[in-house]
Amino acid sequence: MSDQIDALLTENREFPPSSSFRKNANVSDPAIYSKAKSDRERFWEGWAEQLDWQTKWDRVLEWNPPHAKWFIGGKLNASYNCLDRHLDKRGDKVALIWEGEPGEVKRITYRDLHRDVSKFANGLKKLGVHSGDRVAIYMPLIPEAVVAMLACARIGAVHSVVFGGFSSEALRDRIQDAEAKVLITATSGYRRGNLVPLKKVADAAVADCPSITDVVVVMRRPAAEEADDTLRMQTGRDRWYHEVLHDADDNCPPEWVDSEHMLYTLYTSGTTGKPKGIVHTTGGYLTGCIATTKWVFDLKDEDVYWCTADIGWVTGHSYVVYGPLALGATVVIYEGAPDWPKQDRFWEIIERHKVSIFYTAPTAIRAFMKWGEQHPQAHDMSSLRLLGSVGEPINPEAWMWYHKNIGAERCPIVDTWWQTETGAILITPLPGIVPTKPGSATKAFPGIDAEILDERGNRVEVGGGYLAITSPWPSMLRGIWGDPDRFVKQYWSKWPGIYFTGDGAKRDEDGYFWLLGRVDDVINVAGHRIGTMEVESALVDHQSIAEAAVVGISHDIKGTGIAAFVIVKESQRAAAIKDPAKFEQELKQHVTDKIGAIARPEKILVTIDLPKTRSGKIMRRLLRDIAEGRALGDVTTLADPAVVASLKERYEEES
Ligand code: PRX
Repeated sequence: MSDQIDALLTENREFPPSSSFRKNANVSDPAIYSKAKSDRERFWEGWAEQLDWQTKWDRVLEWNPPHAKWFIGGKLNASYNCLDRHLDKRGDKVALIWEGEPGEVKRITYRDLHRDVSKFANGLKKLGVHSGDRVAIYMPLIPEAVVAMLACARIGAVHSVVFGGFSSEALRDRIQDAEAKVLITATSGYRRGNLVPLKKVADAAVADCPSITDVVVVMRRPAAEEADDTLRMQTGRDRWYHEVLHDADDNCPPEWVDSEHMLYTLYTSGTTGKPKGIVHTTGGYLTGCIATTKWVFDLKDEDVYWCTADIGWVTGHSYVVYGPLALGATVVIYEGAPDWPKQDRFWEIIERHKVSIFYTAPTAIRAFMKWGEQHPQAHDMSSLRLLGSVGEPINPEAWMWYHKNIGAERCPIVDTWWQTETGAILITPLPGIVPTKPGSATKAFPGIDAEILDERGNRVEVGGGYLAITSPWPSMLRGIWGDPDRFVKQYWSKWPGIYFTGDGAKRDEDGYFWLLGRVDDVINVAGHRIGTMEVESALVDHQSIAEAAVVGISHDIKGTGIAAFVIVKESQRAAAIKDPAKFEQELKQHVTDKIGAIARPEKILVTIDLPKTRSGKIMRRLLRDIAEGRALGDVTTLADPAVVASLKERYEEES
């Protein structure tokens, strides 16, 4: 890691905005930074004024650390801001361009989207969904997923989207925690030509969710093509989305909600085994979304904007749905995998729809690098004018590849740092102002106070430490659903009143931030957060496993992969040793079944002891070294307890 950090910090290539980009940029005056700093509340208020409010706020901010309220007294509706307010001028403008993995294309105008959302919102009301009720959404990336989110927002219901790659148990846990009343799902979804049987997975989850009264199902394919088991509907509980829509009135006045009314909860991994439901409210969140979408992506009315995230993640919430739609943009969504049917699918989409803004993750960029530049070269991508990156640190090599092969050395790259908890981008270049450096997320967005702090909370001017946010911001999380203590403990206890991000970072002489990854027990696998404890619990749940320890290891494409060390129960050892490869597969599958394929370990190492500190903490750094082939030449020797003991001693002496 420290070699990597040193390499990053000797990075001295710099890419200033081109004069033509700067000339037309939505923001190009560097004084905006000091102006925002001198009156942060006024700065954010200016953005809130760009939303439509039914009642204006009386006060901008009430800050009782760690509890913030923004735009107090104001009333608005998120779906009104994403739809109704565009109808006069942009009713016929395409809001969504959707491509299904098999190749279908749908263009949905703002007027069409408004009609479907209004109808579905009425449908939800008929099912007894009221303001404040939670609605779970477990869907592929199809337009109906966006309709479902906005329909919830329209009636003040709280959506809780669960990524379609999560297992039934993961879905069940999230529904139970949120006590969702309705689940919206689809018969199936496509992934690399295969059908993911979402309804079947949802059925298994809902069997243990007494709070669910109704399940609404989108028929992903014509009925004749769906398998019988995806069509199996439970009388009284399940209903078809198209029937709900068909029977509903298309007039649904929006429910005007308080600025601090909950818009959604989204589960993310933390340091304990249980994922936490991050709570976002309406006014401040939307304010953060529009400010960053307009300035970071330089979004203009004529842009075709494509953020490749799934709506199951926060990036899909803020930068597929709320930010761009609140600004009336044309948004591309694509259901499937980047290498289906061929490895040029993304470039084909960019060419076909003349995408001008493209936002993706470093893990995808590294895969593209591996697949080769002949794929982008085969397509006309001259429509592109800005590129973005999110989810994990982007290595300078990937940054340069992106710059050269996708951006044709013409498009600025915005490397955006943020989190589910922050709701919107907090650290990023402004493309018309800030010169970029490959691998650096550069500077805090105007109106955001980001610092590097040491353990005691002292400010580090130049050098490394913890990334912290020292003042409240509008789109910040308001809590963890059902767990107020954990909210305080997790984010606000390291230094009272200061937000602890869980990330390590450095700041260079120019004041640029360089993100170095998580400092807690969270692993960022291909841009997705997985808690080590979650995977450990899944492993220990297997009948043969007595104890497990999970660490992150370097991975060419994913950035970080998962390695697991397991102690097999005495009684099961003979069976495990008989066919180690089969045993390893079985454990990997068990984790996939418990959580989802994103948590599947790369490597599983069987051991008969785990190195622990005297206080009983697992020495993860040592395990990482072992899993990556350092410290020990041959990892199998870990089966010898004497080796573990001597390693442990050596490490304790060193640290
Ligand atoms: O470690 C940071 C990393 O992703 C974490 C947040 O994950 P999640 O809540 O799933 O949200 C991901 C999308 C916003 C952070 O704590 N991360 C995110 N963006 C970057 C990043 N690390 C480095 N550079 C980034 N641009």
